[in-house]
Amino acid sequence: MIKVENLWVELNGNLILEDISLEIKKGEIVAIVGPNGGGKTTLIRTILGFIKPTKGRVLIDGKEPKDYIKSGKVGYLPQKSSYERDFPVSALDVVMFGLVEVKISKKEKEKKALEVLRYVGMESFKDKPFGKLSGGQQQRVMIARAIISEPELLILDEPSTGVDVVAQESFYEFIKKLNQEKGITVLMITHDIGAVGSFVHKVVGLNKKLHYFGDFKDFLQKSNVDKLYGSEVKLLIHSPECFTCQYFNVEVKRH
Ligand SMILES: Nc1ncnc2c1ncn2[C@@H]1O[C@H](COP(=O)(O)OP(=O)(O)OP(=O)(O)O)[C@@H](O)[C@H]1O
Ligand SMILES: [Mg+2]
Repeated sequence: MIKVENLWVELNGNLILEDISLEIKKGEIVAIVGPNGGGKTTLIRTILGFIKPTKGRVLIDGKEPKDYIKSGKVGYLPQKSSYERDFPVSALDVVMFGLVEVKISKKEKEKKALEVLRYVGMESFKDKPFGKLSGGQQQRVMIARAIISEPELLILDEPSTGVDVVAQESFYEFIKKLNQEKGITVLMITHDIGAVGSFVHKVVGLNKKLHYFGDFKDFLQKSNVDKLYGSEVKLLIHSPECFTCQYFNVEVKRH
């Protein structure tokens, strides 16, 4: 579904991504991991067509990103930034904005928006001004906005930032369900490798170059983690399912 071919990206004369090639198949859940400043956000913004590659190309379903996105089949959650406190629209309006391209009545949009707000546990906040919500509440509303159109491709930049553990778990459950029932393809940047490890199909390890592209189990090999983060870094895996972690430089935190 997504083909990234020999992609090089320079921003203001700095090389951010160097010769990245990878392919994501329809129906896969793929996690992008790597250190801060490693180019993860830049990669997905290039995949979305917001950044023009210096060399190489991206194709989504054989189309240029801009043309694919026009079809309204992509849900995108940007990396969290702080929102304007005086932002005058309600949480419900923010979610309905995710249906801007969809031609159904306002009533139907409202009904769908309420449904997804319920899913992220924010239904009772529907009339609150978005700017007055807490950071985690805003993130939940933004997640609802990204999924409301039931996109074919969901691209999420650190969806769990600022969201509490309960909301995180129900959100990951939801992603799994969307993937299994609707075959939706998910590309997600995360630092929480342990939490997503049990359900992602592939991992992209990125630090300017593509250090790793393959399945989660092999990613946990010490050499792969070292290459990506440096050997001094201990990776914290918050998962009781990580049987292999003890062999590597990985500390397992059990719940
Ligand atoms: N518009 C820009 N102009 C110049 N440099 C930029 C620009 N945007 C990002 N960069 C640089 O590109 C590098 C990669 O940034 P990017 O935001 O893609 O990293 P990231 O992996 O998403 O990091 P984080 O985990 O902190 O979100 C950083 O060194 C950053 O300073
Ligand atoms: Mg980022």
